[in-house]
Amino acid sequence: MADQAIITVRDLRRHFRVFQKREGFLGALQGLFRRQYRLVKAVDGVSFDIAEGEIVGFLGPNGAGKTTTLKMLSGLLYPTSGEARVMGFVPWERSNEFRRRFALVMGQRNQLWWDLPAIESFNLQKEIYAIPERDFKRRLDDLTELLGVADLLHQPVRELSLGERMKMELIGAFLHGPRVVLLDEPTIGLDVVAQATILDCLREFNKQNCTTILLTSHYMRDVEKLCDRIIVINHGRIIYDGALEGVIERFGRFKIVRLQFRGTTPPRNAWGVRGEVVDYRPPVVCLRVERDNVPALLHEILDQAELDDISVEDPPLEEVIGEVFTSTTESVVTA
Ligand SMILES: Nc1ncnc2c1ncn2[C@@H]1O[C@H](COP(=O)(O)OP(=O)(O)OP(=O)(O)O)[C@@H](O)[C@H]1O
Ligand SMILES: [Mg+2]
Repeated sequence: MADQAIITVRDLRRHFRVFQKREGFLGALQGLFRRQYRLVKAVDGVSFDIAEGEIVGFLGPNGAGKTTTLKMLSGLLYPTSGEARVMGFVPWERSNEFRRRFALVMGQRNQLWWDLPAIESFNLQKEIYAIPERDFKRRLDDLTELLGVADLLHQPVRELSLGERMKMELIGAFLHGPRVVLLDEPTIGLDVVAQATILDCLREFNKQNCTTILLTSHYMRDVEKLCDRIIVINHGRIIYDGALEGVIERFGRFKIVRLQFRGTTPPRNAWGVRGEVVDYRPPVVCLRVERDNVPALLHEILDQAELDDISVEDPPLEEVIGEVFTSTTESVVTA
């Protein structure tokens, strides 16, 4: 992976000194003379490589350090220490060449002119990046069609809905044909349909142009649909870097056992410690069972009852990722 890497990050850190306000009048007075600071280790020694054409999900709970990392990789923020290269460039040197080949999309922040129709921002971008007319036209046509917003190009951005605006932001990001795109919660607050359209567009762009994509999202649907690989960060440190399936194998402590009984369904409270009943709709009972206990449980049930159907599945990714977030694993796990 390393020799083909288009993004390399080595021991990257960003610490913030946050002013601590003391309580009460006396505290405020003391604060005038001696300020107290707290050190926030937003990103605390992060290393990874991303190969050209990969789509990687960057996951972690609130405050984990995702946005801070993306800001450093975009050159918006200097690191406290460590190194990073994106397409061979040091991002925070912000060379024009780097910016020409790179894009950042932030779901929570607007980059288009608010009062102007999106097309005017795009035309401006065409000039700034010197995008050849033919490429510009082709990309704009492709993207507006993929996202279904061709008829909204001439409407002021402020009049667009959240989802429509996000689609315009994406067009703005992809117009100059970047090789690397970082997206910070691109589907936040969007309905399921808009979310799916945006995911399709990202996948399509990745497929057609081999664009490398690193994205953060709190929606596991995004991640499942797009990413083969995820990097999980918590408290500024990477706690998992590897295949999406690997995370379920490694951290999924439970299985969901679905049983469809023939004849009498045992009562809801009959399961005791063997499993937690997550759904009870006779003749179907779903249990959350510790992975190691599944064989014994199945054995026991098959001995005692008659079943019409039986299945053992992994719990939803949300649940597994939640377990990764709360895990105490300190070292990097690579699957
Ligand atoms: N400019 C800043 N000054 C002080 N602290 C900051 C600053 N920016 C971020 N932090 C702190 O750094 C930590 C990481 O923040 P960051 O925004 O990177 O989290 P995140 O993973 O993007 O979270 P979320 O999922 O909520 O967006 C947080 O504790 C945050 O309060
Ligand atoms: Mg964030």
